[in-house]
Amino acid sequence: MTVREHAVAREGRRPRAGAVEAAARIRAAGGFDAPLGVVLGTGLGGIADRLEDAWAIASRDTGWLASSTATGHRGRLVCGRLGGRPVVMLQGRVHAYEGFPPEMLTRGVELLAALGVRTLLLTNASGGLRPDMQGGELLVMNDHLDFVARPWGEGLEPMVGTVAPAAGLWYDPALVERALAATRAAGLPARQGVYAYLLGPSYETRAEYRMLRVMGADAVGMSTVPEVVVGRLLGLDVAAVSVVTNVARPDAPELTDADEVIRLAADSAEGVWAIVNALLERAVPG
Ligand code: HPA
Repeated sequence: MTVREHAVAREGRRPRAGAVEAAARIRAAGGFDAPLGVVLGTGLGGIADRLEDAWAIASRDTGWLASSTATGHRGRLVCGRLGGRPVVMLQGRVHAYEGFPPEMLTRGVELLAALGVRTLLLTNASGGLRPDMQGGELLVMNDHLDFVARPWGEGLEPMVGTVAPAAGLWYDPALVERALAATRAAGLPARQGVYAYLLGPSYETRAEYRMLRVMGADAVGMSTVPEVVVGRLLGLDVAAVSVVTNVARPDAPELTDADEVIRLAADSAEGVWAIVNALLERAVPG
C-alpha cells in the first residue's frame, strides 16, 4: 500500500465521482497527474506562469469546477513542471460570498486529489490582525477559527461526520516549519498563526477586527478553511499560507482597497514560490 492509499483507507473518504471523471477528461486532453497541488488565491495566480511545459484548461471546461467571479482569480487549472517534476495548480477559487454552496467550495481540492495530489498547498490574501505586522508578510497557518461553518450539503454526505485529525490538529507542525524555513531562507518575512474565516464579502469593521484579535486570530480572510478540512479528510498533507495584504489598525483606520490587496499579494509571490519549491522537494525528493 502506498502512503496515499494508506491515508485514504485511514480516512475512508474519496473525491466525489464528478472529480474523478473530470480528472480522467483532463488526462485525456493532455493534462497530467502530480504529487503536489497548489491553489493560488487572490493576486497569486501569476505563480502558475512560472511552470515549465505548462498545459492549462479553463475551470468551466473541466465540467466540474465553477469559474470565480472575484477579481484577481483567473479560473484555470494548470499542469506543469518544476525542474522536471510535475505540479498542478489552480489559478483562483470560488468563495462562499459569491453565492456558491459549500459543496462547490471544495471541488478544486477533490479534483487535485483525483489527479494524484498527496501534498496540497493552499494560498490566500488576508487582513493582518497583529499590530506589528507589515503589509506583504506571510502568515503560515497553524490553526483556524471557522465563523462560516455550514452543513456540507449535497454530494458531500460522505464527508459529514465528527471525524477530525488527532487532537484536532488540522495543520501538520512539520509542514508549517518547512514552509517557515523556506521563506526564512529566501530572506522574506513570515510567521505562523491563526486564520479566521469569515463570509465577507465586505472587509471587517473596526469592532470586528478588535473582536477577532481578542479571540486569538492573527489574520482574517474569506476562503481556504473548507479546502483544508476536505483536503485533510481526503488524507492529503495540507499546508496553507496567507499573504497579509492590509494590516488592521482599528484605532487609526485606513481604507482597504481590493486592487491594493491584489497588488500586494502579487508582490509577495517570491515567498509563496519558496514554499512551493520546499514542498515539492518533500513531495518528490530530487
Ligand atoms: N479581511 C478579509 N479578507 C481580506 C482582508 C481583510 O482585511 N484583506 C485581504 N483579504
